[in-house]
Amino acid sequence: MKILAIESSCDETAAAIIAGEPVNSTSSAPQAMPELLSSVVVSQIDIFKSYGGVIPEVAARSHLEAILPVIHQAFVGAGLTKKSGNSSAPEDDWDQIDAIAVTHTPGLLGSLLIGTLTARTLSILHDKPLYAIHHLKSHIYANWLPSTDDKTIETSYDSTKAPEFPLLSLVVSGGHTQIIRMSEHNNFEIIGTTLDDAVGECYDKIAKILGLPYPGGPSIAAAAKNGNPDKYKLPIPQIKDLDFSFSGLKTAVLRAVQKEVNVPISYPSYKLAELLSTQQKADFAASFQKTATKILLDKLAKALSQYPDTRSIVIAGGVSANEDLRNTALARFSNKTKVFFPALKFAGDNAAMVGVAAFYEIASGIKPTDPYKLNIMPRSEIC
Ligand SMILES: Nc1ncnc2c1ncn2[C@@H]1O[C@H](COP(=O)(O)OP(=O)(O)OP(=O)(O)O)[C@@H](O)[C@H]1O
Ligand SMILES: [Mg+2]
Repeated sequence: MKILAIESSCDETAAAIIAGEPVNSTSSAPQAMPELLSSVVVSQIDIFKSYGGVIPEVAARSHLEAILPVIHQAFVGAGLTKKSGNSSAPEDDWDQIDAIAVTHTPGLLGSLLIGTLTARTLSILHDKPLYAIHHLKSHIYANWLPSTDDKTIETSYDSTKAPEFPLLSLVVSGGHTQIIRMSEHNNFEIIGTTLDDAVGECYDKIAKILGLPYPGGPSIAAAAKNGNPDKYKLPIPQIKDLDFSFSGLKTAVLRAVQKEVNVPISYPSYKLAELLSTQQKADFAASFQKTATKILLDKLAKALSQYPDTRSIVIAGGVSANEDLRNTALARFSNKTKVFFPALKFAGDNAAMVGVAAFYEIASGIKPTDPYKLNIMPRSEIC
């Protein structure tokens, strides 16, 4: 079967087509990982660089402009086009598509609306079943995409093998920081979550303080390469159980920068970067990154000790692209359990992961959504 997947939850307009034969999980036959036929991502990062963050209304309008061309490119990339009547341009071959999948929550309301309205219209028009997919589920399922072409980072990832259950997933993205236990496909138990900011948001805000470009995660990671991670001592929040907190760390960096450049705490944060040298920025970036990685992995270690039957650790979401997080996770856990990361190109928002999540929903016997009743929810829990 072939699934057309659509993603528009934040500032990336994406479409992908995946192919495979979902085997019902009750069957004893092994489930082969699906194949990716095409993946197209149009990012709005260049628009939002000058603003230093996403403007929801602008994001929604950009999705509206991009979504149909992006879907068409996904058909072209997958070789699923056919000659159309009089026109010389090939048209999308809808006969080849068996289902449509779309991100329906969580995300920016206007952005989600563009993707879901497009998907439900196409579902009705072409009479294809529609699967409404939770965005965090998609981030986790990016680890089931069969290939990785990222040679830059050494990981224990074996592209021919999928993560094994039960597993612990550390979801680290722009809007979420959670530890989720999965005993099998489509069975999610949130065992830890942030009480305030997400780690990705913290990366983005600290980058702003340091005057590093949006998005903050990659900028901090790049600056940190030239910095001393032990230069500034930052606090580790003492949050109970498996929960996280990142707002205190954000403030701690702000105060440390103010102290470093000798200004009062009332000094405007947007002016601080002018007072910092390149080396100071690098040292702050490295110290923050080391602390953020430690907070995340200390909790993951705690979760692992609480769930000793864990067979895989699956790191997911945009922050999973972070090299320090990847290398430190491998160093800490790969002698205890398998450690998985998505290919770098599938760490951030994309539609390939939505297609794979839908594939495993179908394999689990989950029924499609009525396109006339598809609701979007800006925020909702994964389970
Ligand atoms: N190399 C990196 N190191 C650290 N953070 C990174 C890196 N690359 C991207 N990020 C961060 O990942 C986040 C974006 O991830 P993602 O696209 O998954 O978030 P989102 O879709 O906005 O939020 P959510 O998935 O929670 O709805 C941003 O905060 C960005 O700064
Ligand atoms: Mg995301």
